[in-house]
Amino acid sequence: MTAFDLKDLILMVSCACVRADAREKGTTGYAGAEIEKRAFLIASRLALPTCGLQPLAVYVGRFLAAYPDGVGFEHENAINEDSLNRICPEKEDTFRPQEVEHIASVFARLIDYRIGENVHHSERIAARCGAMARYYHWDPDHGEQFVLAGALHDVGKILISHALMDKPRSLSSNEYSIIKKHAYYSSAILRPVRGFDTVAAWAYRHHEKIDGSGYPYGLTGDQLSLEERLLACVDIYEALTESRSYKDPLSHEEAVSILRQLAQEGRIDGKLAEDVDRCFAVQE
Ligand SMILES: [Fe+2]
Ligand SMILES: [Fe+2]
Repeated sequence: MTAFDLKDLILMVSCACVRADAREKGTTGYAGAEIEKRAFLIASRLALPTCGLQPLAVYVGRFLAAYPDGVGFEHENAINEDSLNRICPEKEDTFRPQEVEHIASVFARLIDYRIGENVHHSERIAARCGAMARYYHWDPDHGEQFVLAGALHDVGKILISHALMDKPRSLSSNEYSIIKKHAYYSSAILRPVRGFDTVAAWAYRHHEKIDGSGYPYGLTGDQLSLEERLLACVDIYEALTESRSYKDPLSHEEAVSILRQLAQEGRIDGKLAEDVDRCFAVQE
């Protein structure tokens, strides 16, 4: 069974939240008591709904207060095992998958809230990833990782401004290039989390296309795993069938016909698009 480190995950997401908060308010960062207060607030919100994990709020608050420059998650040494253990030696490093899944659903709601009110994109993708895992009869550990990738694939959107995320689709090319950065940000947030190597890889390649026209790296089908190609299909399907402030939802049939069109153009995996059709036809 995969050992996930929830401390790392909460730490990285809290760092991203503090950083986004500072950026939105036009400051480069917070200092002293202010950072402690904000870090504790964010960590509390993330940890408290998962009963039994309250000490993590204290832990993350202490960490961010002690290491204010750790709020920039690109700092290689933001997570330093010795420092973590010195601040919170009594906390265990790994958590059961059920606990991780629970907090992932909290993160999914937080990510969705950043995108816009009444958005349930990450929550719904996580549920759809679970449905696909059952459709393929994957073992529980495999399915668990895929659900986590679904819940967290857009975590990088925390670092994109709320106003831009919920804007109608008349985006300028500059705005679109800012939004596209979220895939890289997802990778930057998830990669340092111990136990999340696979989840991070699946998550941050969800906008890659098999013909190399996707982002952030323009990878091609032979460089993408089945899970990465599948998450891309599920993400497109969900985006088409959900409503946003600027668009109505498409029906299952309409969404599948667009998936087939994309498959014909060689952009997504046609076999997986058909699996998405079969898996969700009965649910919609
Ligand atoms: Fe995305
Ligand atoms: Fe997405």
